[in-house]
Amino acid sequence: MKVLIHDSAEAAVAAIANRIVEKVIAKPACVLGLATGGTVEPVYDAMVQKYDQQKVSYSRIRTFNLDEYVGLSPDHPMSYHHFMEKHLFGRTDISASNTSIPFGNAANPAEEAKRYEAEIKRCGGIDCQLLGVGENGHIGFNEPTSSLSSTVRIKTLAPETVRANSRYFQRIEDVPRLSITMGIGTILCAREIVLIATGDNKSKAVLEMIEGPLSARCPASALQLHPHAEIYLDAAAASQLTLRDYYEAVHPNGKVES
Ligand code: PGA
Repeated sequence: MKVLIHDSAEAAVAAIANRIVEKVIAKPACVLGLATGGTVEPVYDAMVQKYDQQKVSYSRIRTFNLDEYVGLSPDHPMSYHHFMEKHLFGRTDISASNTSIPFGNAANPAEEAKRYEAEIKRCGGIDCQLLGVGENGHIGFNEPTSSLSSTVRIKTLAPETVRANSRYFQRIEDVPRLSITMGIGTILCAREIVLIATGDNKSKAVLEMIEGPLSARCPASALQLHPHAEIYLDAAAASQLTLRDYYEAVHPNGKVES
């Protein structure tokens, strides 16, 4: 695990976006795993900016999003389909037919989960997976006590996730209670993982993710098992790490060799 501590959220965002863009330039038809949430919005803004500056084209990438709410149709304003269209897909040359997000309104969500896992495999697996992390340590909608080897399936949102995500809905009662999410095993199959966490509300999850123990209590701690995981942090998210001097000595200012 590479722990990359930046002075500010802006610097962490710029660094992770540059990293993703570098990967697309190196492999224009790469398979990217994508995430949703407040933390990744500026990452997508930075990726769009690189596209606007003609530094990169996304026309050949294939994308798979982590998750979707069960019950929301793709055109629902709170769906992750809608989020991706608004923040990334609709602003670049990504081809709609090259993007996949689970269908939350599928007649049989359990079958949809199986189909989604198979589709990822059929495309050769994910080259690079972008992640955020929840305050409770979730990745995707893999809430605490999720199996560390889980595949795409239906998961019930934890009460704290319902509360956190209610900021996007008119009423907390409107937040769907179920999701279709890549499993932790699915995520660990990605050949590379880049995760971003900013703000002191993430500092406890970041501590548990990086310094352990490895436990289903903190799903993100499963990334300790991954051979190529890079964790992009601002100083606030890194504030509870006990081995911070070590991380900063290995990667001064969050710099990482290519
Ligand atoms: P956030 O969500 O970026 O909105 O905090 C992250 C997550 O829940 O994975």
